[in-house]
Amino acid sequence: MKLEEIKSIAVLGAGLMGHGIAQSFLLGGYPVRLYDLKESILKTAKAHIEKNLVLFSKVGLIPGDGIGPTLERLVLTTDLSQAVEEADFILEAAPEDLGLKQKLFQQVENHVWKGAIIASNTSSLTLTDIGVRVRKKDRLVITHWFNPPHIVPVVEVVKGEKTSDETVETVYQLLTRIKKVPVKINLELPGFLVNRIQVAMAREVFDLFEKGVASAADIDRAIKGSIGFRLASIGPLLTADLGGLDLWLKVCENLLPHIQSSIEPPRALQRLVSRGHSGIKSGKGFYDYALDFSQAELDEAVKKRDEEFLKRLKSLYWDKK
Ligand SMILES: NC(=O)c1ccc[n+]([C@@H]2O[C@H](COP(=O)([O-])OP(=O)(O)OC[C@H]3O[C@@H](n4cnc5c(N)ncnc54)[C@H](O)[C@@H]3O)[C@@H](O)[C@H]2O)c1
Repeated sequence: MKLEEIKSIAVLGAGLMGHGIAQSFLLGGYPVRLYDLKESILKTAKAHIEKNLVLFSKVGLIPGDGIGPTLERLVLTTDLSQAVEEADFILEAAPEDLGLKQKLFQQVENHVWKGAIIASNTSSLTLTDIGVRVRKKDRLVITHWFNPPHIVPVVEVVKGEKTSDETVETVYQLLTRIKKVPVKINLELPGFLVNRIQVAMAREVFDLFEKGVASAADIDRAIKGSIGFRLASIGPLLTADLGGLDLWLKVCENLLPHIQSSIEPPRALQRLVSRGHSGIKSGKGFYDYALDFSQAELDEAVKKRDEEFLKRLKSLYWDKK
C-alpha cells in the first residue's frame, strides 16, 4: 500500500500510549477511530487529548482555533469491527500480553481490507510471535513509540521476518507526514535500538548510586547538564566523531574494564523493590517523596518538564519542517 492510499487510522487501546498516538494522527490531519473495551476509558482518553491540545496551543505548536476541528476527527468506539473496517492503518496499543495481541491481530485481519497495514506498539515482543495467526504477514510492522507519544519525536519502525519493504517505506512516510521522526530498525533484536541503549546506561547509573558515588539528585543533575544536554542536539556517534575516535579508543581501553557489566538485575533495584520502594507510586524510590520534595514542588517540576519538552519539540523538530 502507498502513503496516498492511507485515508483513515484506527488505534486499538486508549491507555497511556494509545491516546497520545491517536492525538498524533489527529494532528497530522487523519480521521482516527479509537477503540477500547469500556466507554469510560475512551472518555478519559478524549479528555486527556483535549488537555494536551490546549497545552500544544499554549506553546504555539498549533493554533487555538485548531483544537475543535482536530477533536472532530476523533471517533470513539467499543466495537472492534466498527473501529477497523474502514481503516487503512491500524495500530495496536493494547496491554503487553502475547496471547491478547495474537488474538487481537487475528480478529483485526478478519475485519480489514487486504491492503491495510497492521502495526503493534509492543515494547518487548517480536512481530513474528504477535502475527503468528495472521495470514498476510507482509503488512505487519512494529511501530515503537516513546512515552509521552504525542511529544517524543522518534518512533522505531521494526521489520518482522515477513514484513515487505513497501510496508516499511509507507509507514516511514506516514510517520514523517504527521511530524514524527521514524527510525528504521532492520533486525528484530530484543529492545530494538533505543531501549537497549537506555538499559545499558541505566545499569551503570544504578550501580554508581548503589556504590554511593553521588546522591540521586547529583547523579540526575550531572547527566541532565552534560551528556543529556548534548544528546538532545547531537547523537552519540556524531559526538564521538567530533571528539576524535582515537581519543574514544583510549577512553574505552582505560574505562571499560571498570564499567558495570553484570547481567543480573542491578543491586540497587533489587534492594529498593524488595523493600516495597517502587518509586513515586509508593512514596519512595531513589528519592524519598516525603522528604525530598513537597507535592507542590513535584507538581511544578512535572509542569515545567512538560513545557520544556514542548518547547524543545517546537525548536528542534517542528520549526525546522
Ligand atoms: N507505557 C510505556 O511507556 C510504553 C512505551 C512504549 C510502548 N509501550 C507498549 O504500548 C502498549 C500499551 O501500553 P500502555 O502503557 O499504553 O498500556 P495501558 O495499560 O495504559 O493501556 C492499554 C489499554 O488497552 C486496553 N485493552 C485491554 N484489552 C484490550 C483489547 N483486547 N483490545 C484493545 N484494547 C485493549 C486497556 O483497557 C487499556 O486502556 C504495550 O504493548 C506496551 O508495551 C508502552
